[in-house]
Amino acid sequence: MSSTSAEEPAPYGGGGPTAPAVRKVRTHHLRQMKERGEKVTMLTSYDMYTARIFDEAGIDVLLVGDSASNNVFGNDTSLPVTVDELLPLTRAVARSTTRAMVLGDLPFGSYQASPEQAYLTAVRFMKEGLAHAVKLEGGVEMAPTIKKLVDGGIPVCAHIGFTPQSEHALGGYRVQGRGTAADRVVEDARAVAEAGAFAVVMEMVPGDVAARISAELDIVTIGIGAGSGCDGQVLVWTDAMGIRGPQDGRLPRFVKAFADVRTQLLEGARQYAAEVRSGEFPGAEHTF
Ligand code: KIV
Repeated sequence: MSSTSAEEPAPYGGGGPTAPAVRKVRTHHLRQMKERGEKVTMLTSYDMYTARIFDEAGIDVLLVGDSASNNVFGNDTSLPVTVDELLPLTRAVARSTTRAMVLGDLPFGSYQASPEQAYLTAVRFMKEGLAHAVKLEGGVEMAPTIKKLVDGGIPVCAHIGFTPQSEHALGGYRVQGRGTAADRVVEDARAVAEAGAFAVVMEMVPGDVAARISAELDIVTIGIGAGSGCDGQVLVWTDAMGIRGPQDGRLPRFVKAFADVRTQLLEGARQYAAEVRSGEFPGAEHTF
């Protein structure tokens, strides 16, 4: 076996105790995980430190989401963020990761005009952002675009159900695929799979619809607000790790906070300020 074999266990302890022991997560590993019934883990990441920490924790896929628009750049929605803003974040995450797959998110307006526009944007994410794959929003209408990218050697993760870049067209944040609208979500899922996507994110889709799609399709389904029947889950890290404060709006119902990073930072910053003001810091041991 070559020393760079993808199947060889990670020598650095990366991956954590429950993560598949592969050096580098690739699309075929995700498919194998689905076949074995193992759940795929995905979190967003926008910088070096979270990328390193999540990689060490064994998160399989790091999404440099266009949610950086809200979580890094201070916008109200994901719409304003640009390719030029997302590329350096994607590169930072890719450079800071050894095991996880890094997924670059194509921002609003950078791929919808034509498959050619999408291809050129996706190439920038692969070459300048060092992404391993890209994500784009849309179902049936995006099938020719997905095919163009996949034919050009770019792995694509689709995103259906509630698609935040279309929030104005969809009438705000609302569950997609309730009742008879379920057929549309199923058609979208089938279309992106047929077009060659290796995975599909399903956002705010009823759990029974998402479970049905996950059972029917061979490609990996990743849920966010789509219940436990998906092949994997994704959350925005700032939501999942509790960094948002009361002024940052209500968390969606589908989010669980797994840590309280905000309280730690707040207490640390207050302690620092107090010690600087009192003269306790810096002490003799911090002084040359
Ligand atoms: O940009 C993002 O964070 C996303 C997730 C909500 C899946 O697309």
